[in-house]
Amino acid sequence: MRTVKLLSVTAETPTVKSFKFIDELCSKGEPGQFIMVWIPGVDEVPMSLSILDPEGRQAAIAVKRVGEATDALYNMKTGDIIGVRGPFGSSYTVSRAGKVMLVGGGTGLASLAPLAERLVKEMTEVTFLMGAKTKDELLFYERIRSLLSESKGRLMATTEDGSFGRRGLVTTLAEKLFRQDEKFSMVYTCGPERMMQIMFLLAKEFNVPFEASLERFMRCAIGLCGSCVIGKYRVCQNGPVFRDQQLNEVEDEFGRWRREFDGRRTRI
Ligand SMILES: Cc1cc2nc3c(=O)[nH]c(=O)nc-3n(C[C@H](O)[C@H](O)[C@H](O)COP(=O)(O)OP(=O)(O)OC[C@H]3O[C@@H](n4cnc5c(N)ncnc54)[C@H](O)[C@@H]3O)c2cc1C
Ligand code: FES
Repeated sequence: MRTVKLLSVTAETPTVKSFKFIDELCSKGEPGQFIMVWIPGVDEVPMSLSILDPEGRQAAIAVKRVGEATDALYNMKTGDIIGVRGPFGSSYTVSRAGKVMLVGGGTGLASLAPLAERLVKEMTEVTFLMGAKTKDELLFYERIRSLLSESKGRLMATTEDGSFGRRGLVTTLAEKLFRQDEKFSMVYTCGPERMMQIMFLLAKEFNVPFEASLERFMRCAIGLCGSCVIGKYRVCQNGPVFRDQQLNEVEDEFGRWRREFDGRRTRI
């Protein structure tokens, strides 16, 4: 584990803050990879790398406060110390050329934002669909809007309460684009698992290659403890990004079941 000093703390939404730090290994991570973040005296939790800046040797995470560890992290200030391990796990396959669809919700947008930046560098045409319950919760909207305004890409937002973009679910918008006969060479998704499961079924129906980034309880992050299993896979090592062929093999669990901290299976 390396200890790093927080370079900046930025409020992104009413419940999500970004934490930037200098760490060469993290800055060289690939889109989709995650790190283990140690909050001194509290806990160690997995977080996606939301900014990858190898030139500046900087990286960042975007944290939503949901419990004890994320709450403690959320209250940390510039100059405070955290510990980092990683980067760990698989990354998205970066399509070079073609037209791709990215579908994200909640903190899932943290792992899709660096992917969008990499895809634009590769001259890939990006259609980015972003969903939230309400306008204030759309994470990284301005960052993606400004990225795609300088490329061939487009950004479309949905909110469940209709406060911004189209009213409804992001998966409904994705389905509409497929049914209008738009063609995509790849679909990437990260967000609530039920959302990703709907995208998985849509991509299957329309015969489009698919990748999703999954979350499970993690302790070791190096394939030893078994906390993060889904079917025959360990999410920390074989994932968090899984291809459609792998998801076919765990279809009875993906979007349906997860394991609690004590190993009990619960419905998603
Ligand atoms: C690969 C991966 C990437 C993630 N990326 C992000 C991210 O970019 N931003 C973000 O805000 N969150 C991310 N998470 C979720 C984040 O790790 C949990 O919200 C965090 O661990 C909650 O800890 P807590 O003590 O605050 O909450 P707790 O009260 O302990 O738990 C609240 C809920 O968080 C989940 N959770 C708790 N501990 C873990 C754990 N060790 N591993 C996985 N899930 C856990 C459970 O669903 C639990 O019900 C990611 C999780 C994984 C597995
Ligand atoms: S977190 Fe221990 S095996 Fe994945």
